[in-house]
Amino acid sequence: MNKVSIITGGASGIGKAIAEKFMEYGHTVIVIGRDEKKLMAMKDAYPNNCEVIKGNIASSDDIKKIFRIISLNYPVIDNLINSAGFNMTVNTELTFEEAMLNWNSVIATNLTGSFMMAIKVAEIMKRPGGRIINISSIGAFTGGIATGGIAYAASKAGLNGLTFSLARELSSKGITVNSIAPGFIEQTGFTASFPKEKTSEILSQIPVGRAGKSKDIADICYFLCSEEASYITGEIINVNGGWLFGR
Ligand SMILES: NC(=O)c1ccc[n+]([C@@H]2O[C@H](COP(=O)([O-])OP(=O)(O)OC[C@H]3O[C@@H](n4cnc5c(N)ncnc54)[C@H](OP(=O)(O)O)[C@@H]3O)[C@@H](O)[C@H]2O)c1
Repeated sequence: MNKVSIITGGASGIGKAIAEKFMEYGHTVIVIGRDEKKLMAMKDAYPNNCEVIKGNIASSDDIKKIFRIISLNYPVIDNLINSAGFNMTVNTELTFEEAMLNWNSVIATNLTGSFMMAIKVAEIMKRPGGRIINISSIGAFTGGIATGGIAYAASKAGLNGLTFSLARELSSKGITVNSIAPGFIEQTGFTASFPKEKTSEILSQIPVGRAGKSKDIADICYFLCSEEASYITGEIINVNGGWLFGR
C-alpha cells in the first residue's frame, strides 16, 4: 500500500515542495492549511495523490476535527511533516499588549500546533516505521536575522526541544523524530516579500553562494522519512548552505 504522509502547510513553499516530492515517490499526501484557494489548487493539480483538509493547527478543536476526517480513510499514517509556521514581529518597541498578542499567535501555530499534531498522529502512526519531521529554522540558533524575531526564534528553539523530547518518547516505539532547520529558502510565502537589499545581504553571507530552494529541504525530508534513515532520531539537521557553521 502507498505510504500516507500528513503535511501541515503543504499548499505552499517548503511544505508544497515536500508534498510534491513525496507524491513523486508514490505517497498519498494529506495537506493541511487554512487558505481554501491554495488547498483547492493543490487538489486540482494532484487529484489522485493529494487530499486536502482545511484547518487551523493553532486550534485544538480543528486538530481533533482534522484527525477525525483523516481516520475515516487512513487508519495508519507513515509520516507527519510539521511545516506550517510563520513570523510576526515581537520586539521591545511594541506595547506589552501588542507583544503578547503576537507572541501568543506565533507560539500557538509554530510550537503548540506542531505539538498537537504530533500527539494526535502518534495514536495512529505506523510502528515501527513512523516518522515525524519538524521544520524548524536557523533562527532557533541565531535569534533571527534582524530584530523582531523574539517569538519566532523562541518558537523554533522550542520546536527543537519538542523534537528531542518526542524522540525520547517515541523512538523505542519505532517512530523517529527529527527537525530540519532551513536557512534562507527563496520564493516561499515566508521570504517572497523580503526586500531586495535584505536578500542580497543574506546571500553575501552564505558560503555556497546561493539561496536555498524548497527542493533542498524536500530532498533531506524525504531521506529522513526513508528506511535508510531509521537510525537517525532526535537530530536537528541544518540545511543552510553553510550560513551557520562554526558558531
Ligand atoms: N522560507 C525560509 O527561508 C524559511 C527558513 C527557515 C524556516 N522556515 C520555516 O519553513 C516552514 C514553511 O515556511 P515557508 O517558507 O514554506 O512559508 P509559506 O509558503 O508561508 O508556508 C507556510 C505555510 O504554513 C501554513 N500555515 C501557517 N499557519 C498555519 C496555521 N495556523 N494552520 C494551518 N496552516 C498554517 C500556511 O498555509 P495557510 O496560508 O493556508 O494557512 C502556509 O502554507 C515554516 O515553519 C517556516 O518557519 C522557512
